[in-house]
Amino acid sequence: MSLKEKVDLTRIPQHVAIIMDGNGRWARKHGKNRIFGHSSGVNSVRETSEGCAELGVKYLTLYAFSTENWSRPITEVTALMMLLLKTIKAELKTLLKNDIRLKVIGDISKLPAGVAKELADAMKRTANNKRMDLILALNYSGRSEITRAVKEISLRVEKGEIAPDSITEELISNNLYTAGIPDPELLIRTSGEMRVSNFMLWQLAYAEYFFTEVFWPEFTREELYKAIIDFQNRERRFGKTSEQLVTK
Ligand code: IPE
Ligand code: IPE
Ligand code: MG
Repeated sequence: MSLKEKVDLTRIPQHVAIIMDGNGRWARKHGKNRIFGHSSGVNSVRETSEGCAELGVKYLTLYAFSTENWSRPITEVTALMMLLLKTIKAELKTLLKNDIRLKVIGDISKLPAGVAKELADAMKRTANNKRMDLILALNYSGRSEITRAVKEISLRVEKGEIAPDSITEELISNNLYTAGIPDPELLIRTSGEMRVSNFMLWQLAYAEYFFTEVFWPEFTREELYKAIIDFQNRERRFGKTSEQLVTK
């Protein structure tokens, strides 16, 4: 029985989020520079997006560039931005063919103008696609996202549009970049690091975490299946006892 056949297609997570990590270490392992690691990582993005769409995942969020990543050497930041630009251009056709809608979370106003423009164009052209949302986290920070939501809500309170008492979890969710998108049920992080690095802090409240030693450029469909099978073998209790779930 192949790994793919072991995946229960009736219990696919709706939303999978991935911290794509380990490009640099993978490159070093192969005697190459970090940039080579990043460009190799694009193959894994393609594999994972297609793999998820085939399984029926509705939302796939990929952490591609954090606000903290601006502090890397300028040459690496520039190379990442160029790679992003090139990849969006090259993959647009495939996104259209596969009926995938592109979305972005994060502050894209701070990205190079050319990148922001290409992203806006790709988002517009894929806006009516229905099979899966591919959400790129770019210049993203979970804490900034929450801070931004708090500011927006405060302004509405100040204007008298809403009362402090009517601030609910739902209102906060609706003021995040991910408004309207269900929370991820599964978070995958590659490269053996076991931290969230400021990723989707609000949205991951009850997600299942899956860590793998595999570096991002080595992440294939098979690795994706492993993560989903692992997810499907867990008992998601949401504070209840195991017995309650059985008798529910
Ligand atoms: C992830 O790989 C890609 C980005 C953060 C853009 P890294 O570049 O972090 O690779 P390592 O962690 O240094 O190996
Ligand atoms: C997290 O990876 C950000 C992305 C994957 C884009 P990092 O490699 O930047 O994370 P830290 O700094 O090691 O935690
Ligand atoms: Mg890293």
